[in-house]
Amino acid sequence: MRLILYLGKGGVGKTTLAAATAARSAQLGKRTLVVSTDLAHSLADALDTTLGSEPKRITSNLWAQEINALDEIRSHWASVQDYVTGVLKKQGINDVAAEEMALIPGMDEIVALLNIHRQAQDGAYDVVVIDAAPTGETVRLLSMPETFLWYANQAKGWRNLAMSAAKPLLKTFLPGVNVLESLQKLNEQVAVLRGVLTDPDTSSYRLVVNPEKMVIKEGLRAETYLALFGYPIDGVLCNRVLPTSADGEYHDALLREMVAQQRVYYDQIHSTFAPLPVWDAPYHSREILGADALATLASEIWDGDDPTRVYFRGSPQELVKRGDTYVLRLPLPHVEMGKVGMVKKGDELIVEIGNFKRDIALPTLLAPMEATVARMVDSALEVTFTPVSAEQPA
Ligand SMILES: Nc1ncnc2c1ncn2[C@@H]1O[C@H](COP(=O)(O)OP(=O)(O)OP(=O)(O)O)[C@@H](O)[C@H]1O
Ligand SMILES: [Mg+2]
Repeated sequence: MRLILYLGKGGVGKTTLAAATAARSAQLGKRTLVVSTDLAHSLADALDTTLGSEPKRITSNLWAQEINALDEIRSHWASVQDYVTGVLKKQGINDVAAEEMALIPGMDEIVALLNIHRQAQDGAYDVVVIDAAPTGETVRLLSMPETFLWYANQAKGWRNLAMSAAKPLLKTFLPGVNVLESLQKLNEQVAVLRGVLTDPDTSSYRLVVNPEKMVIKEGLRAETYLALFGYPIDGVLCNRVLPTSADGEYHDALLREMVAQQRVYYDQIHSTFAPLPVWDAPYHSREILGADALATLASEIWDGDDPTRVYFRGSPQELVKRGDTYVLRLPLPHVEMGKVGMVKKGDELIVEIGNFKRDIALPTLLAPMEATVARMVDSALEVTFTPVSAEQPA
């Protein structure tokens, strides 16, 4: 299975390009599903049809779906929610507030991702393309599996602590066996999901930009965040490129001005995102709607080639031994050291950039060591781990 996710600033063309990739993939004979995870769905409009929360067949190999995460939570995780609601109500919180609070933060994202994964398996799709919400929300979506795993582990710890403390008050908060089982099952599914989402043979993330300053900035930030969470990017789509006239003559002064502006940013996109491949998508004079028109757009962009191939492989996180010390290397493009926050706590390394934080579970080998040096080398964060010497008190 191949999973391709487009992300970028609002309005850059994510839905159009996700739908185009899917339509072309289907045309090439692959069973393809395109899924929207954006609450402000517009996939149905792009495909010029109506869609619901179950995959709908659009052409012989193409299916499309708009996920409604809240419905999902209600149907699949009702037992977890009933339990939390019950506890909250016992504390005197009214029904509506209790129900709202029981929607664990991040739960809708997890459920949306698990749903896609389940659909991909059940429907035996060769390709799944995700039409995501603008960058910030999508990065949040993608950071959830790891955050969830972290919380679930903590929750296990709290439960043991509460059991041994045997305090009656704490005991009222203890989940029953079926809830713990649901949580455990969920935990296992999320771990598998995280594996799929970070596997470069299966999953590719693509940045969509337009030749505009603000859009490029957001694209660069998105690249950093994806790298932080270990999600493999295989290319950049430069959408809405205006055609340059062969003789440099334009009838219209406004168009001439716009093309000149675009050229500056166009060149910048092609140089700053290197070595990632950059594909150009031309500015069409009208909206590109319906599976056929979208498939043609994808043929145009990838020059007849298969848009679902893996086009680039970056260097993943690595661990190198240097003498007595170990160096953990995490590629993080486009950041300056001043903007990276880092703390080591036991077997966790917490890396923070902007609003996003990743808890990296360290190999057992590094857990007892001290993180002594952190620096940026060739667009990668290198953290040196040194053994704590025997003379020092533990
Ligand atoms: N290359 C293009 N040429 C002409 N029109 C385009 C092109 N790409 C996208 N559009 C149009 O621009 C509008 C926005 O595109 P689209 O919905 O794909 O963006 P988006 O990134 O998904 O937006 P949102 O962040 O709101 O989800 C749509 O009307 C779409 O048809
Ligand atoms: Mg969209």
